[in-house]
Amino acid sequence: LPSSAIDGGMASTTSTADESYVAPSYEIDRRRNLAIISHPDSGKTTMTEKLLLYGGALQQAGAVRMKGEQRATQSDFMEMEKARGISISATVMTFDYNNLRINILDTPGHQDFSEDTYRNLPSNIRRPGYHHSHVFHVYDDPNREMNHISTRALAAADNAVMLLDAAKGLEPQTRKLFEVCRMRSLPLFTFVNKMDRPAMSPYEIMDQIEQEFGLATYPILWPIGDGDRFKGVLDRTNDVVHLFDRGDRQGKAEVEQIHMDDRETLKSSIGDDELFEKLLEDQELLSELISPLDMGRVMSGEQSPLFFGSAMTNFGVQLFLDKFCDMGTKPSGRLAKRNEEGKGKRSKQQGSNANDDDDEADEMISPDHREFSGFVFKTQANLDPKHRDRLAYIRIVSGAFQKGMKVGHSRSKPGKKYNLAQAQTLFGSDRESVEVAYPGDVIGINNPGNFAIGDTLFSGNEKIAFPGIPSFSPEIFAYIRNRDMDKYKSYQKGIDQLLAEGAVQALRQRNDDGGGPLILAAVGQLQFEVVQARLKSEYGVDSDLEPIGYNLARWADAGWDAVDKADADGKLFGIMIVQDRWRRPVLLFRNDWKAASVAEDEKYLMLKPWSK
Ligand code: G4P
Repeated sequence: LPSSAIDGGMASTTSTADESYVAPSYEIDRRRNLAIISHPDSGKTTMTEKLLLYGGALQQAGAVRMKGEQRATQSDFMEMEKARGISISATVMTFDYNNLRINILDTPGHQDFSEDTYRNLPSNIRRPGYHHSHVFHVYDDPNREMNHISTRALAAADNAVMLLDAAKGLEPQTRKLFEVCRMRSLPLFTFVNKMDRPAMSPYEIMDQIEQEFGLATYPILWPIGDGDRFKGVLDRTNDVVHLFDRGDRQGKAEVEQIHMDDRETLKSSIGDDELFEKLLEDQELLSELISPLDMGRVMSGEQSPLFFGSAMTNFGVQLFLDKFCDMGTKPSGRLAKRNEEGKGKRSKQQGSNANDDDDEADEMISPDHREFSGFVFKTQANLDPKHRDRLAYIRIVSGAFQKGMKVGHSRSKPGKKYNLAQAQTLFGSDRESVEVAYPGDVIGINNPGNFAIGDTLFSGNEKIAFPGIPSFSPEIFAYIRNRDMDKYKSYQKGIDQLLAEGAVQALRQRNDDGGGPLILAAVGQLQFEVVQARLKSEYGVDSDLEPIGYNLARWADAGWDAVDKADADGKLFGIMIVQDRWRRPVLLFRNDWKAASVAEDEKYLMLKPWSK
């Protein structure tokens, strides 16, 4: 391998006359990306930090944890990030480890979310003493919003790690995010954290995962004791025991390694006869009880390699990282609609989403496809209040990104090209320009307002459109109104931007020209607050919200004729009929029970969850 390639230097791809951009296979093969899913407080921040530490990307643990103002003053840290070519931002953290390039995609935690929210609040309430947790505590379940955002990060990931608190096992957030992993059949690794505290039995945890998720686990690392008696782990891939030394919390852990066959040394090093006997028993029991590791099943998300450790005390993290590098999958392709630009139904029907066209077959776009393609999974506006900038984050699916390349866009007119002159990664608050990037990587590009979540960018003449990104179905609805008609233009601009970012979703009252009053749909109250606060601080407009007492949306797949018939027959009493941005009929219900009974009694409506 040319070392310049490993260093991420300019690739040997050349742009040919037809502007095709191919990713070299070694660049695809060496990429691994992962998203960590967990319930708040399981240790995701700690784990991320330790992965960076063991990956050589950080010298000292503790750096990621610093939040808000504390982090902003860490300019040395920023310098270090730059020097080492890693980025620690809310979107992706990248580092090289054993010639592999690891991208950790951030699934925002509760603190991060409230911090973002806080940052986006108008300055008059963002005053010293107004701690961001005030915003956070007002609402009953801010975690719902967090899930919503995490789902998008999962759409960009190829591997996921489910991080559990050993004392708590599965928790609500893990359950919710697991559903998303399952939907995508993502390879899922499980890391049971905080073994240095009193823990559930490892068998009990395996059982819980199996019973609740129908997911088989295969212990790679098996714990020896827990809490104060946590001695270490058995690596079942080679029968080596790693004994744990409660060392320095900031640095790397010292580890003693002993083979299982060396019974005497093992017994005296464990120094606890009961745990030693238990280890022998467990080893035997596991080899009898557990079906063998099947990488095919791991890749399709049916069997989860299981690890035990303690991120805080650095134990099991490097073992996990090494195994993940071996077992995790390289960037995978994605199914997409493909057609020659200018042909087919898509090109005539502007403004619709790719996944609406069921009459075009899906085709796999693999990373070695000869053209560049990628999809937007996150957009962000006004990151830096001094420059009114907007970024779209692209997960590259195929080909090579090169600075200055021209790309088509799934929702634009055929033949229209955008020049990607300005891709960047974020280093804290600084930006660094990206020359070249490959499948599995995430780049931030300037977004003049054209790119929305779920959009595809592609090189070449053949249009590629990846399906939209799934999101949770909204549960609260409200009319939004501009208070000052003189500011209509700013209001409209702000609303358009916030909808494009996916800050909330939109429905409209039914109206023949599609222009009925706007209804915002959200998974939690906090989203509404953010929209109003950002309209005020970024666009200078005051708005009023009027909540509507419905809390469930169902899309009537059968179309307007069926809905009109049901309405005329008096079957939709107490149900609000609205339309989404493709003017498809959406019904709003007051409760699950009502939605279920209409779905049952009026099957011809073909009700389906509505989520975008
Ligand atoms: P999160 O991002 O998933 O919300 O979790 P985070 O890493 O912030 O960890 C939550 C708390 O759990 C922190 O304690 C952290 O130190 C602790 N923790 C993380 N991993 C381990 C572990 O392996 N063992 C033990 N015993 N604790 C762990 P805190 O009190 O909130 O913060 P701090 O005072 O430790 O910084």
